[in-house]
Amino acid sequence: MTSTEPVAGREGRLAQPDHLGHVIFITAAAAMGGFLFGYDSAVINGAVEGIRGKYDIGSGTLAQVIAIALIGCAIGAATAGRIADRIGRIRVMQIAATLFTVSAVGSALPFALWDLAMWRVLGGIAIGMASVIGPAYIAEVSPPAYRGRLGSFQQAAIVIGIAVSQLVNWGLLNAAGGDQRGKLMGLEVWQVMLGVMVVPAVLYGLLSFAIPESPRFLISAGRTAHARKVLEDVEGKHIDLDARVAEIEHAMRSEHKSTFRDLLGSRMGFLPIVWVGIGLSVFQQLVGINVAFYYSSTLWQSVGIDPSSSFLYSFTTSIVNIIGTVIAIIFVDRIGRRPLALIGSAGMTVALALEAWAFAAKTADGTLPNTQGTVALIAAHVFVLFFALSWGVVVWVFLGEMFPNRIRAAALGVAASAQWIANWAITASFPSLADWNLSGTYVIYSCFALLSIPFVLKFVKETKGKTLEEMG
Ligand code: GLC
Repeated sequence: MTSTEPVAGREGRLAQPDHLGHVIFITAAAAMGGFLFGYDSAVINGAVEGIRGKYDIGSGTLAQVIAIALIGCAIGAATAGRIADRIGRIRVMQIAATLFTVSAVGSALPFALWDLAMWRVLGGIAIGMASVIGPAYIAEVSPPAYRGRLGSFQQAAIVIGIAVSQLVNWGLLNAAGGDQRGKLMGLEVWQVMLGVMVVPAVLYGLLSFAIPESPRFLISAGRTAHARKVLEDVEGKHIDLDARVAEIEHAMRSEHKSTFRDLLGSRMGFLPIVWVGIGLSVFQQLVGINVAFYYSSTLWQSVGIDPSSSFLYSFTTSIVNIIGTVIAIIFVDRIGRRPLALIGSAGMTVALALEAWAFAAKTADGTLPNTQGTVALIAAHVFVLFFALSWGVVVWVFLGEMFPNRIRAAALGVAASAQWIANWAITASFPSLADWNLSGTYVIYSCFALLSIPFVLKFVKETKGKTLEEMG
C-alpha cells in the first residue's frame, strides 16, 4: 500500500481528508515559523563582517554574539511546549511572531553591541519556539496518512528560509556595491539584512489568525464542540467523529498539563522515549550540518577558494538541501521515517569520510590539489543531499509525532532544546577544531554519522501511518 492512494484504515480514519487543500494551507501557514527559523539563523552569515567593522570587535567576541542567539533558541524551545499546553498552540505562534518582529527591528537599529546581542537572543527565543510549535501543531492537525509529508513542510520551510536569506543578503550586498557597511536607505547593509525579517515575521503573525487551534488542545481545554469541527475539517467527513474524540479524550484522560516532571522515569532520569528524542536531535547536529550552513564561506576560503565562488557554493548547497527535502517529502510516508534515516546516515558517513580524506591533502599554501578540491566540493554537496533527504526532515517529523499526547509538548521541548545546545556546541567549536585539523574534524563528524546507524536500529521505532493516540 502506498500513501498516494487514500488509505482505508479502521473506521476510515486514515482516509483521504475532504479538504486536503485546506489542510495544506493550514500546514504551510504554521510552517512560516520554520521559514523564520531558517531565515533568522542563517541571515547573520551575511551580516557578520559588517557587525565586526561597525563595533571593531575580534573574532572571539563576534563568535559569542552569533552563538548567543542559539542559547535563546534553547530557552524558547524549552518553554514553548508548556505555554502551548496552557494557552494554546496558536497563541505560541503569535508570541513567536511578535518576538521575531521586535527582534528584527531591534537588531536593525541597535544602540550598541550589547543591545544587538540582546535582540539576537530575543530572536533566538522566537526561533526556539517556532522550532517546537511547528512540528507539534502540524502533527496534531494532520490526518495520519499524510502526517509525514505535512510534517516535512516544517523542514522545507526551514531550508527555503536559509536559501532566501542567502539570496536577499546577496542582493542587498550587491545593491550596496559589495560593502557590508555600504549604505542602503540610510542604514548600513547589515542592518537592512537583519531588518528585512520584519516582513515574514508580520506575515507569520497574520497567518496565525487564519488557522484553527489544534483539536487536541481544544479537547484538553474542554472545548469539544469546536474540536469536532476542526477534526471534521482536517481529517474528513467520513471519519467516525465520536470515536476519534473518544480516542483523544481517552488518551488525555489521566492527564494534566504536561510538565517537566512527567518526563522523568524511574531509573534513567528521563523516560526512555525522551532519551530517544534527545538522541535523534543530538545526532542530527553532531554530523556537522550547520558547519555547512553557518560557516560555508569560511570553510571554502580556508581551502583556497575565492570569496565569490564560496558564496556560489553556499547557495548551490542550499539548492541541494531543498532538492533533498523534496525527495524526503515524497518518501517519508511511503517507505517510512526509519529507512530514510538509515539511508541518510550511510550516505553521510561516506560523504563526510571523503571530505576528511580530501581536506587531509591541504598543502602548505592552504589550498587543495585539483582532485581533492573537486572531491571535497562534490562530497560536501552529497553530504547535504543525504542529510536533507533523511535526518533533516525525519527528526522534525519524529519529534512532532513520536511522544504520547500526555507528554508531547514538554518532551518535544526538551528534545528541541537538546538540539539547540548540540547545534551551539558544534557551531562554537568548529573554528578551533578547524584550526587544529580540518580533516580530523570531518573524521569526527563522519564517526557520529556512523554511530547514528546502530542508534536508529536499536532505539527508534517507526511511526508511519499510526494515529498520534497509538504512540502511547
Ligand atoms: C534541520 C536542522 C537545522 C539545520 C537545517 C538545515 O532543520 O535542525 O539545524 O540548519 O536542518 O537544513
